[in-house]
Amino acid sequence: MKVKHVKLFLVSVSLFFGALFLASCTPSQAQASKPGALLWGENCVRCHNAPSPSAFSDSQWEVVGKHMRIRASLTADEVDKIVEFLKMAN
Ligand code: HEC
Repeated sequence: MKVKHVKLFLVSVSLFFGALFLASCTPSQAQASKPGALLWGENCVRCHNAPSPSAFSDSQWEVVGKHMRIRASLTADEVDKIVEFLKMAN
């Protein structure tokens, strides 16, 4: 291969992986469309047993949501869905 061709090859390879990297940063559709119950089951068991929806009242869940959003580093949207689910199921 000529030097010029090697350079061209390297540029296209880095563009390809650059694009892959960028694509991996945007939240996937699957994550965004997960229902609250699923997010609760996946996230709230990471550090302790997932508390039962009936363990707290609606207003208590609001507070727990704010607190655990920081602990679990969830997005506002994810926590909203989880709290929505817990308030619906308690
Ligand atoms: C990164 C770890 C972590 C994750 C993930 C996590 N928690 Fe917690 N949770 C804690 C810790 C640590 C405590 C106790 C200390 C405190 O209050 O910060 C706690 C305490 C609690 C309590 C209080 C328990 C009691 O009986 O007083 C509730 C309720 C709770 N978590 C709910 C949740 C919910 C709902 C989720 C999912 C959105 C969640 N947690 C995700 C770490 C976590």
